[in-house]
Amino acid sequence: MSQPLFRTPKGTHDVLPDDNLYMTYIKKAVRHRARQAGYRRIDPPLFENRAIFDRGIGEHTDIVEKELYLVSSKQQSDEEPAFALRPEFTAGICRSYIENGMQQLPQPVQLYSIGPCFRHDRPQKGRYRQFHQFDFELIGLSDAGLDAQLIQVIDKVFQDLRIKDRLTLQINNIGSGDNRKAFAQALQDHFIGKERHFPDLDRSRLHTNPMRLLDSKEEDTQILLKNAPQLSQFLDDDSRKYHALVLEYLDALGIASTENLSLVRGLDYYNQTVFEYWDASTGAQNAVGGGGHYDGLIELLGGKPTPGMGAACGMERIIWHMKEAGVRAPDKDQVDVFVAQLGPEAKKTCLTLIADLREMGVHTVGALGEASLKSQMRLADKFQSRWTLLLGKMEVKEGTIILRDMAAGKQKQIPFRDTLKTIKKLIGEKNLDTYTLKDQMSE
Ligand code: HAM
Repeated sequence: MSQPLFRTPKGTHDVLPDDNLYMTYIKKAVRHRARQAGYRRIDPPLFENRAIFDRGIGEHTDIVEKELYLVSSKQQSDEEPAFALRPEFTAGICRSYIENGMQQLPQPVQLYSIGPCFRHDRPQKGRYRQFHQFDFELIGLSDAGLDAQLIQVIDKVFQDLRIKDRLTLQINNIGSGDNRKAFAQALQDHFIGKERHFPDLDRSRLHTNPMRLLDSKEEDTQILLKNAPQLSQFLDDDSRKYHALVLEYLDALGIASTENLSLVRGLDYYNQTVFEYWDASTGAQNAVGGGGHYDGLIELLGGKPTPGMGAACGMERIIWHMKEAGVRAPDKDQVDVFVAQLGPEAKKTCLTLIADLREMGVHTVGALGEASLKSQMRLADKFQSRWTLLLGKMEVKEGTIILRDMAAGKQKQIPFRDTLKTIKKLIGEKNLDTYTLKDQMSE
C-alpha cells in the first residue's frame, strides 16, 4: 500500500463501518433507556462561547487549562478566540436551560445528548482528542432518590451492552461549596512550608485546586495526604445525610457501589454526590463514565440558583469493553443479494431489478461496471452476500435468471418474473428491511 498523503489529525480517528455497528447499538440502548426514564434529546452546538467552559468547568482544571480547542474565524484572526469546541456537554446544556427559559417547564428537566467532544489530551489507548460521549442531565430538582435513579439508568445501559460486570461504581460525597472551601484552606494550611515535598504538578495544584490532590496518581502525594486533614471531616450534616440516603436507595435498587473517599472528579462544578465507573480489573485508569451534582453551575452561568446533576460515558471506551467481553454488535449491514449481469440489455434490466429488490427491503448490491462474470462472482464472495442473481445475454433472451445460494454453492434457473417473489420467500417477509415511518405524523 502506498503512503497516504493525508492522515487523521493526531488523537482522532475515523469511526469505520465495523465500529459504527457498535456506535449504533450503543445509541439505541441509550435512546431506549432515556425514553423509559423521561429524558428528551438535546443537541447543543459543537462550539460554544469559551467563557461557558472557563466558568463552568473551572479555570484551573486540566480541561480548561490545557485541553480546550479554541475556535476563531478568519475575520477574528487578530483577536483572542471567543469560542471553544465543546470538551463535554454539561456546561452547554446548562447554558441552553437558561437561554431557553427551561425553568418555566415542569421540573426536573431531563435531557440527554450523544455526540463528539474535543479535548487536547495526550493521545493514548482510550484517550483521544475527538471522542464520543452520551450524556444525561437532570436539572431543577434535588433529591437523593433522583441520584439513585440517574445511576440506575446508566447501569441499565451497561447491562444492555453486557459490560456491567466489568465495571465498578465508585461513589463519594464531596459536600457543599462551603465545605470544599474550608477543606481546601485546611489542606493549604497543613502543607505550608512543606510544598517542596510535592511533585511539580501537585505543588501547583496545592495553590490552584487543592481538591485535585486527592485523586493524584503520584505516590508521594498520596503518602503526604495520609496525615493531612480529610475531606470527610469537613462535610456538613446535610451532606452526610444526603449521602447515606443515596447509598440506601442504591441498595434498594440492587445497585452495588464502592465508597471511595478519594474520588473528587476533574471538573470544578461538582458538589455533593460524585461517581465514576471504573474498569473492575485496572481501576481508575480510563474511567468509562462519571458524573455528579452541580448545584452551583446554573447560577455561575447567569441563571437563578438551580440544582442539577448528570453523568456522561465515553463511547470509545465502552466499545473497547464490549469487544474485550466478546460482545458483537448486530450486523445490520449484511448484504442479502448480489446482482451480477453481462451485456447492455441485462444491465438495463438489472438496474430496475436492483431498485425493486431494495424497495422490497432486500439489502442489494450490484456490479454495474464492465467486469467479467467471473470477477463479479468473486466480488459477490467478498461482499459475503447470501444469494447471487445472475443475468447474462442468454437469460435475458429466455426470460430467466440464475439464482445462486452462495453458502451451499448451488444454483438454479428460475423465471425472471418470479425473482422478487422467490427472494422474498428465501429471506422471510419479517426479515425484510423496509423503511417506513411507522408513527403517524400529526397535522
Ligand atoms: P468526564 O469524566 O470528564 O465527565 O468525562 C466522561 C467520560 O468521557 C469519561 O469517563 C470517559 O469515558 C470519556 N472521556 C473523557 N475524556 C476522554 C478522552 N480524551 N478520550 C476518550 N474518552 C474520554 C464529563 O464530561 C462530565 N460532563 C460528566 C457529567 C455530566 N457530569 C455531570 N453531568
